[in-house]
Amino acid sequence: MKKYLLTGHAGFLGRWVCKYLLEKGDSVVGVDTFEGGHENNVRELITQYPNTFVSLKVIATTREHKLQCYEKLFETDKYEEVIHLGAFASEGLSPFIRSFIYENNVIDSSIIINECIKHKCKLTYASSIATYGHGRSTPFKETDTPMPIDPYGIAKYVIELDIQAAHHTHGLQYKIFRPHNIIATYQNLNDPVRNVLGIFIKKALFEKKPFPIFGDGLQKRQFSYGNQVAKDIIDERLPWNEVYNVGGNISTTVLDLAKLVAKAAKVEFKIEQLPERIEAKIAEADHSKIEKYRGKVKEPKLESIVKEVVEYAEQTQDWTIRKLPKVEVWEGLPESWKKYLV
Ligand SMILES: NC(=O)c1ccc[n+]([C@@H]2O[C@H](COP(=O)([O-])OP(=O)(O)OC[C@H]3O[C@@H](n4cnc5c(N)ncnc54)[C@H](O)[C@@H]3O)[C@@H](O)[C@H]2O)c1
Repeated sequence: MKKYLLTGHAGFLGRWVCKYLLEKGDSVVGVDTFEGGHENNVRELITQYPNTFVSLKVIATTREHKLQCYEKLFETDKYEEVIHLGAFASEGLSPFIRSFIYENNVIDSSIIINECIKHKCKLTYASSIATYGHGRSTPFKETDTPMPIDPYGIAKYVIELDIQAAHHTHGLQYKIFRPHNIIATYQNLNDPVRNVLGIFIKKALFEKKPFPIFGDGLQKRQFSYGNQVAKDIIDERLPWNEVYNVGGNISTTVLDLAKLVAKAAKVEFKIEQLPERIEAKIAEADHSKIEKYRGKVKEPKLESIVKEVVEYAEQTQDWTIRKLPKVEVWEGLPESWKKYLV
């Protein structure tokens, strides 16, 4: 039985990673700010695993206080591994909240990296294919030089570099994963500026409005099944000190995704076309490296995952918008987002 510290455990991917670790018989201390995640995501796990799962909330707001909290956490318990998923994960919003992104994502990660070094813990980190940047040939390979073009991608890459620097200076053992477009039950359906599937489902089921599409909707993405991504992140067959692309192989346009949501939610397919925004037209990753170690997996059909998430949304029916960070720069912000932000 291993003991893990899992950051972002109350988020979407964190919930799945937490569940699979607990099912394996491991013990998990989860730490989350609960700004993006939700108690509901882990309530059932708290009841089911009272002896092996602890869910903690980060209450510290200053860097000094956070340092003390993490120091105490690592002194109280011995963790074999830290899985660090905690982040504010909105790439699209990141150019408008850059200082928040660097503070929350980079500085907090540096605190965790320090503690891993001091306590000789292995570190698994969820980066993103946003590190690759746009306008380059696809599929992205781990050997490509990252060229992120927004604060979210830059922050992810800075953390990757810092983890690798800590490997060289202090022997920190790490795995870095670059996931993309993850979908499954428990995903945040309440964020109006992130997560296209969640946005479409909310439009169809709750707002009963057309699907908002930036540009022509021919942006291509490989939607990835969250349950499989979570299993890959904890897969012990993958060697340490490596970077892995992780996610689905099948590419779909955003327009086709909207059609699948319309079918699953039994609503008419209607779109509201919005001006194009700065985003990658095609974002596809190569997964041959991870497949070399764990083999190929049979991917569920996108249609069945969409149906599963629509049914989940119908049952949960909590459409309250989570609190979003305060906008720092309004210039260039998509008009359609302004009503949700302060
Ligand atoms: N979902 C995707 O498609 C995707 C793609 C690429 C990378 N990722 C990365 O995977 C990780 C999980 O993403 P997700 O989709 O589950 O997002 P999510 O928002 O559902 O979960 C992130 C969790 O981290 C928590 N959090 C935020 N800042 C924190 C901090 N400083 N300390 C501790 N907890 C903090 C949030 O409250 C939330 O519960 C993130 O690091 C994200 O950047 C996700």
